[in-house]
Amino acid sequence: MNTTFNEPKQNTLLENPKIYRKLQINHTRNKQQDHTQLLDEAAAAFKYEDCKDVYWNPEEFSLLYGTPVWEQASQSQKVILNQLYWVAYYSQIISAEIATIFFNQTSAAGLYAQEDFRLVCDMLDLESAQERAHINAFQTVSNQVEAALFGKRIFSYTMRGPFNETMIFADTNTFKRWWKKLQLQTFGLLSSDNTFLACQYFTVRGVRTLNGKLVQHKLSNYYQKHPDQENAPIPANISYYHFMDESFHFNSSTIISHDVIECLKPPTAFEKLVANLGLRGCQKDHYHFSAAINGIFWYDPALYSAIYQVLRSPVFNMSDIEAKEMMRLSFTQESEGLHRSYQTHTEAMESYKVYLDKLNYVWQSNKQMSLMASNSIPKYLETQKKAFSSSFDESSFPGSTWECLQSGSATSIIGGRAS
Ligand SMILES: [Fe+2]
Ligand SMILES: [Fe+2]
Repeated sequence: MNTTFNEPKQNTLLENPKIYRKLQINHTRNKQQDHTQLLDEAAAAFKYEDCKDVYWNPEEFSLLYGTPVWEQASQSQKVILNQLYWVAYYSQIISAEIATIFFNQTSAAGLYAQEDFRLVCDMLDLESAQERAHINAFQTVSNQVEAALFGKRIFSYTMRGPFNETMIFADTNTFKRWWKKLQLQTFGLLSSDNTFLACQYFTVRGVRTLNGKLVQHKLSNYYQKHPDQENAPIPANISYYHFMDESFHFNSSTIISHDVIECLKPPTAFEKLVANLGLRGCQKDHYHFSAAINGIFWYDPALYSAIYQVLRSPVFNMSDIEAKEMMRLSFTQESEGLHRSYQTHTEAMESYKVYLDKLNYVWQSNKQMSLMASNSIPKYLETQKKAFSSSFDESSFPGSTWECLQSGSATSIIGGRAS
């Protein structure tokens, strides 16, 4: 039967068999190797008690590694710092993945308006379902650990929506949070009805994933190189399974943002503007680096309260004065940890540049990552010195004794979602 109509020509993916094939291979392999079930089983089997005495990551991926806190920590405290890196790291990943699920869906809506884009949308549906399994696994572990160690949340949080500040420890305030929310909502609305912006979201997602890839590859190696894989700690398995799924997500970001985008009409001035503002937003989000956590671009002054709580907790048992002094030494002075974090920041930035290099709609300031490149160790130290003295001048953090910290929201995790 003849199904040809006399209609204006639309974009069609099938006219680009090479790109279509790339998408098909990526989607088929992801479906075949899907780690959802393994992650669900790992999360269900996780008992902190079973792996509370061992490392879960390579040693250098420990909270405050290479800082004075690390240097003076006992072996058992180092184990906890290693596990807390896992908890803190994946708490940040949860936040990013909540946003990813939403934007996968708005982008799929924008892309489904084109002929033959069903494959792209099916691929994104699978990825979103995988993200939900990832989040569940990360939350299960983090909740148990923080309930056991602190009886309250420090890095983890109750479930939240996609319009929150993605960086959980950011340089922000009420106005900035509101503005960010408005920007995210606007981008969601625009991308669900604009094919170019829907595709361009994957440029942002690709850039953001590059840094994750760098660190998560090293975290996943811990399981792969474990001498006794059968008995490796479950969080190390989770890092590995997650990395496996994410490598397909990274491929799809690349195919959509580098190849599929070429099948579309060139962007209008407005589309270019929105796309570049999105990339500039990435640079802003990844401007800082943290002495406490290598590979997550947190703003350390926003992290002081969390670190203070860790040091005052029964794990370290420091007095108020000891905790503040250890923090002063760790945050306001150069350390191996700070240099390692800066190194990761630089590596990430270089990989973003390569990723954006061939996209001709991207502004030079984004291609060169000039905002991100403008941060440095001297700037970091200057910021910390100012922030540190003003934090402590105001006689410090809300509730400066452990007893006080334990009341209030502290008990919400106990008997709640932590099992
Ligand atoms: Fe994920
Ligand atoms: Fe992902």
